[in-house]
Amino acid sequence: MQKPNKRLEGQTCIVTGGSSGIGKAVALAIGRDGANVVVNYHSNAESAEEVAHQISKDSLCGDAIAIQADVSHEADVVEMFSTTIETFGTVDICIANSGIQRDAALTDMSLSDWQRVIDVNLTGQFLCAREAIREFLRRGMRPDVSTSLGKIIHMSSVHQIIPWAGHANYAASKGGLVMLMESICQEYAPHKIRVNSIAPGAIQTPINREAWNTPESLEKLLKLIPYKRIGVPDDIGSAAVWLASDESEYVNGTTLYVDGGMTCFPGFTANG
Ligand code: BGC
Repeated sequence: MQKPNKRLEGQTCIVTGGSSGIGKAVALAIGRDGANVVVNYHSNAESAEEVAHQISKDSLCGDAIAIQADVSHEADVVEMFSTTIETFGTVDICIANSGIQRDAALTDMSLSDWQRVIDVNLTGQFLCAREAIREFLRRGMRPDVSTSLGKIIHMSSVHQIIPWAGHANYAASKGGLVMLMESICQEYAPHKIRVNSIAPGAIQTPINREAWNTPESLEKLLKLIPYKRIGVPDDIGSAAVWLASDESEYVNGTTLYVDGGMTCFPGFTANG
């Protein structure tokens, strides 16, 4: 673990999908900055417990627990928030990170593949944001820990603006997130709530293993990344800590692209 910092001390953060990939790195980074962390998971209890343990065993980090919940189920999300509030007193930061892919050509895409991706990637983020805001409003300001009433970070993707053949359900869910995030910001910024998205590019995690696990696929992938390296989960962890901290206090309703320049259309470097 890197040296702990203290930008989030005294705050509590829920990270959904915190047992692996980007969510795991985000949970560890948030814990390192002093926050208590709820490591939410869907099915991998062992890995979520291990992430929580890594945070709580370090006396310089915050405390942590793992909580199972399917973010697309309203009752699960409501219960996750009440357990968090019982355990830590409140929620200050919600990082709605859970996301899945069910890839298929559109003509082969089943309704259930469409629905499941929308349920987890979009409805799940709505449910988490709603419960978080209810708690922020109930609890009121805590000027000793933050200048904002609460912070929500939606984990989006470069595919909120880059269309993606063979992944229409995923791209539609991320495109929907833009309007969800910006509408929530417009509605709740007057209450001093900050709502932003992080849009990762190609980050080396199990979700996109096929895009990097052979030298040939990695070479093909790097053609899409001007910075010429694949992202690592910690790239997103540090962005999330900054967006959750008061250092970014005036940042609201924004998407922070963390993509090595992927959204700068590298296909046009020597063409067009
Ligand atoms: C997807 C990855 C993909 C990346 C860049 C992410 O949102 O989950 O599978 O590699 O976007 O295309």
